[in-house]
Amino acid sequence: MKPEPRKDGVSGGGNGGAFPHLPLACFDMKVFIAPLIGLALLIAMWQLQPYESLFCSRLSSCPLPNSASPLSKSELSSSLSPSPVSPVSNSTPATPKSPVFVPPPDPNKRAFRAYGSAAALFVQMGAYRGGPATFAVVGLASKPTHVFGTPWFKCEWVSNNPSVTTVRAKAYKMLPDWGYGRVYTVVVVNCTFPSNPNADNAGGKLLLHAYYSATSRRYEKFVALEEAPGSYNHSHYQPPFQYEYLYCGSPLYGNLSASRMREWMAYHAYFFGPNSHFVFHDAGGAGPEVKAVLEPWVKAGRLTVQDIRAQAEYDGYYYNQFLVVNDCLHRYRHAANWTFFFDVDEYLYLPEGRTLASVLDKLSQYTQFTIVQNPMSSKLCVLDLNKDYSKEWGFEKLVFRNSITRVRRDRKYAIQARNAFATGVHMSENVIGKTTHNTKDMIRYYHYHSSINVLGEPCHEFMPMPAKGKVTWFEKIPYVYDDNMKRMAEVVKQFEKEAIGSI
Ligand SMILES: *[C@@H]1O[C@H](CO)[C@@H](O)[C@H](O)[C@H]1NC(C)=O
Ligand SMILES: *[C@@H]1O[C@H](CO)[C@@H](O)[C@H](O)[C@H]1NC(C)=O
Ligand SMILES: *[C@@H]1O[C@H](CO)[C@@H](O)[C@H](O)[C@H]1NC(C)=O
Ligand SMILES: *[C@@H]1O[C@H](CO)[C@@H](O)[C@H](O)[C@H]1NC(C)=O
Repeated sequence: MKPEPRKDGVSGGGNGGAFPHLPLACFDMKVFIAPLIGLALLIAMWQLQPYESLFCSRLSSCPLPNSASPLSKSELSSSLSPSPVSPVSNSTPATPKSPVFVPPPDPNKRAFRAYGSAAALFVQMGAYRGGPATFAVVGLASKPTHVFGTPWFKCEWVSNNPSVTTVRAKAYKMLPDWGYGRVYTVVVVNCTFPSNPNADNAGGKLLLHAYYSATSRRYEKFVALEEAPGSYNHSHYQPPFQYEYLYCGSPLYGNLSASRMREWMAYHAYFFGPNSHFVFHDAGGAGPEVKAVLEPWVKAGRLTVQDIRAQAEYDGYYYNQFLVVNDCLHRYRHAANWTFFFDVDEYLYLPEGRTLASVLDKLSQYTQFTIVQNPMSSKLCVLDLNKDYSKEWGFEKLVFRNSITRVRRDRKYAIQARNAFATGVHMSENVIGKTTHNTKDMIRYYHYHSSINVLGEPCHEFMPMPAKGKVTWFEKIPYVYDDNMKRMAEVVKQFEKEAIGSI
């Protein structure tokens, strides 16, 4: 962080907000002593002075309002920690100066002293090239700053080739979390240049300027992305893509059942076929047992597990779910024809023996389609004394489907990611192209709500096998027997054995 002249007085230090009211003389003097600052700092550090003392002369020589009341040592050090206040040493009287007229402090003028900083202006999770001339920077930002203020962004490309001039572009931002954010909200910054800023493939840096508001010129500037010389390859941004299907998972947290994770992974590796890839985000849910069942799929190149546990520092919605799906969208924007977003207690299903390729072929004119839910009981099983149900897989024995229709239930979705600019949990609202919700005869998902968090046996209640077409009531909900998933179990188990060996 390079201190900007306007920034240092304002950004959060104990003298916050005072700078604009400084008498002109003081400002000029500051400019005058600027060249001496480095020297003074060097001497001060060399003398191993306590850090606080470096700042005293400024506080006393410039008539800041709050310098009237002496700061305790702890107040002072906490007020100084993160903000780039220009240090001026009092140990070297570098600028002998005639006394400045100091007006007596106005006893009615109140000071407001800020300590620390509660939410960052921007927290970058990822930055990705999204095409020949476009980039996305995905991160978090202080929610009130975006809700009540007008922070904005500017992009700049600095080439490694010194004879290429720097290009700038105004960025636009999207807040894709529908207001669900907490201290932090998700921000996707779109940087689109008039043409490829790295056309000569010399490499370079994408810099982001993050402005605090539309009315101030304060900003933070940082390198969002670097491209190595020769690394730009146009063919990566057009079909054919590496995979047909990509799965972007939400954060995994809490105590997850290793058995359910194993079954989900085997089922969907089978469902999507060999030309697909899975991305999980471990927010603390992948304990040793879960890791062990995922490891064979990682080794086989079918699965990537991203460690996102550091997200816990940043209070966003639901383990920063919106952040994670947007990062995944842009990270793999050109990796697959279709990107799917749903959870690990949900299982995709194609009715009437359809194939995934035929369904997606029908949907190829759409950028996005949503998927309706078949809600399943996560604890009702069939009573059959001849069966050792403890050896059955979850989706093999949880066979009671909630038969209440005509209620609105959450949907999940898939997207042609290259046409999306930001995304949500249940669908994306930032796409070009059409969206369809009319898919219930083509593709559905079975939802075993929270079954993933049940360690041990999921079957808690047993009901006799209902007669054909009969409803089973449980906890005031009518259930019907649905063995569509159960009938997949054998082939999935066989597939798992062939793909990764016996577990
Ligand atoms: C660009 O990427 C494609 C596909 O990955 C590859 O076949 C090709 O060799 C690459 N071109 C260069 C110049 O690296
Ligand atoms: C994926 O895209 C390629 C190239 O556009 C196409 O040939 C292929 O049929 C698509 N596959 C699916 C499953 O949509
Ligand atoms: C996970 O389970 C262990 C032991 O069963 C328990 O000690 C721990 O508190 C649980 N953690 C969470 C996050 O629920
Ligand atoms: C940024 O926005 C432009 C115009 O809306 C779009 O064409 C481009 O694909 C977007 N880029 C990314 C990386 O989302």
